[in-house]
Amino acid sequence: MEKIRNFKLKDFAGFFGTTVQDIPEVCRKIITKSDFRYRLVSATKLTQLIREINRKIDGDDLFVAGKKAKSIWQKRWSAQLKDFVANDFQATVLVPKYVKKPINNTYCRFDHGFIAPLDENFELNWKLVLKYWLFGKYLKNVDHIYEFGCGTGINMAILADLFPQKKLHCSDWVDSSKKIAEHMSKQYHWNVSGHVFDMFHPDPKFKIEKNSAFLTFGALEQMGTGYESFINFAIKNKIDLFVNVEPVEELLDKTDSLDALSIKFIYKRNYLRNYLTYLRRLQTEGKIKIQKVQRTCPGSFYQDLSYIVWRPIKPKIN
Ligand SMILES: C[S@@+](CC[C@H](N)C(=O)[O-])C[C@H]1O[C@@H](n2cnc3c(N)ncnc32)[C@H](O)[C@@H]1O
Repeated sequence: MEKIRNFKLKDFAGFFGTTVQDIPEVCRKIITKSDFRYRLVSATKLTQLIREINRKIDGDDLFVAGKKAKSIWQKRWSAQLKDFVANDFQATVLVPKYVKKPINNTYCRFDHGFIAPLDENFELNWKLVLKYWLFGKYLKNVDHIYEFGCGTGINMAILADLFPQKKLHCSDWVDSSKKIAEHMSKQYHWNVSGHVFDMFHPDPKFKIEKNSAFLTFGALEQMGTGYESFINFAIKNKIDLFVNVEPVEELLDKTDSLDALSIKFIYKRNYLRNYLTYLRRLQTEGKIKIQKVQRTCPGSFYQDLSYIVWRPIKPKIN
């Protein structure tokens, strides 16, 4: 049996592309109280997992993202809305069901291989540290935060905790997400409103307030290559900052066998493609400024998350 290891504060700083000093107290507390122990998986297990991923990608039970997938999200989020109401609006019920896996079948990508976490909430807690750090660092200077593709609104709890005074706008193309946000506002008195907004067809009449940031978390992922009108919508509205936490194809290494599988996964599922290349082109054209691009780790079973922070360049007023 492989020996037990543990991720510590300095590992998290490395995962996020920052320094230990930059990790705030709130994240340190989560790191201390969570169980981030893991084992490396053996070479034999790695071969077995790679075979399993290939079988899954080559099979037909993964749904393809895009415009036709809306009904799948409608079904998922209406079930989670029902559970949220039935469970007295407990925030823990907002964890998307597809995130939960039995611990004996949970493996995360790490350092060209996989690790087997000891705690079933490893990935959830890892993401919690990332979110508190990333949102706290980049969203602190705006008055309004708009999350697009907010799903169950799981990120609202963190944003409301970090920034009780800011106005939070929780939007998705699915009506149940709007309803969940409305319940949150009523039950918890969070400063949050719910909206229906389709990123494939941005509504020019949807009001974006001054001093605003946009956020997507695994949501642009669902757009394949159909994100240009939405990005133009952000630029036109002269937002202050855009934070994307998404799988970013360009940051993967095609010569690495696990990264190559991630790319295969992205194409099979019609996930986000060519996005960073597109942003870099907009930057060359003088339309936006990219502030930070960072691949993070550990990843999930099929892919890693990266974050990109960028902002439109606002024309100078003389
Ligand atoms: C993987 S889930 C992520 C949800 C949430 N951001 C989170 O962190 O749990 C993807 C979300 O994107 C939403 N979505 C997909 N396409 C969309 C579109 N065109 N406009 C708005 N939301 C969309 C889905 O309904 C779903 O809520």
